[in-house]
Amino acid sequence: MDEIDVRDVTTENLDDLCWVCVSPEKRDDPDWIRGVADKKKWAVEALAEWGPFAKVAYHNGSAAGMIHYRPLSEERVVHIDCIYVLVSSHWRKGIATRLLSSLMEDVKKRMRWFDNRRPLALVTKTFLGGAPEQYTAREFFTKKGFRQIGEGPDHLYYPLEAGFVYKPVPKKEVGYIPQDEDRGKVVIISGPDYCPATYPFFLKRTEKYIRETYLEVPIRWVDSSEEPAEVRKRNVAVGDCIVNARLMPSYVLDKDGFEREAKAALE
Ligand SMILES: CC(C)(COP(=O)(O)OP(=O)(O)OC[C@H]1O[C@@H](n2cnc3c(N)ncnc32)[C@H](O)[C@@H]1OP(=O)(O)O)[C@@H](O)C(=O)NCCC(=O)NCCS
Repeated sequence: MDEIDVRDVTTENLDDLCWVCVSPEKRDDPDWIRGVADKKKWAVEALAEWGPFAKVAYHNGSAAGMIHYRPLSEERVVHIDCIYVLVSSHWRKGIATRLLSSLMEDVKKRMRWFDNRRPLALVTKTFLGGAPEQYTAREFFTKKGFRQIGEGPDHLYYPLEAGFVYKPVPKKEVGYIPQDEDRGKVVIISGPDYCPATYPFFLKRTEKYIRETYLEVPIRWVDSSEEPAEVRKRNVAVGDCIVNARLMPSYVLDKDGFEREAKAALE
């Protein structure tokens, strides 16, 4: 029998939240252990600031999936950062549906995040990846009634009030502030982050791609929790990569795009 139980994240089950996205065969890998530690640092602060900001789903008593969200107070909406059910034997059992419906119940109520008012919508920007045969986050949210915002198919919203149409508040992007000391090298920004894959999967991959082509270029790792001033003065964030004083716009999931940009910056 499939018993599914959904619980808000608290200090009691923070470890479950941090490990639920790590596949069993990666649990002893030092890079993934570091990724989980980065997530835990981030999550402890998030819990202190926001209260519950995620839910963990348990399948027959074991952590099997999670949903992460946060307030966008200016817009009075709840932003879903991620939903994930990792292991294929857990798919299509209604776990993600239960996670989303539990959040739907919460957001029908007044929330202290929004001065005791109800939020106007759920908003999400879905991740493009996913394992073979796995449903994508875009397919899932679209099936659950989310609508597209603007041109891109991965920016979606679900109105919580009749007739509400979400229009994102345009933000002034300042961007990376170039530093002389970044010339002739690569700077990779690590540190506390909501995703445990940021360090092992994305940033270590960034380093690997650089090294595959450029054996000699110096690589400097900056951890935002150890050198916050270094991150602030560049106006960058965890996950960013700077090559010869240029911020790389492409994510490493787009290997060709990333390598093209790194080449243009270095040569
Ligand atoms: C999308 C995802 C959360 C769905 O999880 P799940 O627990 O299997 O979903 P559910 O069992 O609740 O199914 C929800 C609906 O999707 C459908 N569905 C799920 N997987 C499906 C698949 N592979 N093919 C077709 N339909 C599928 C179900 O039939 C169900 O339909 P219904 O609402 O009509 O009943 C999961 O597949 C996943 O984690 N995908 C990757 C998402 C991602 O990239 N996250 C970021 C990672 S960093």
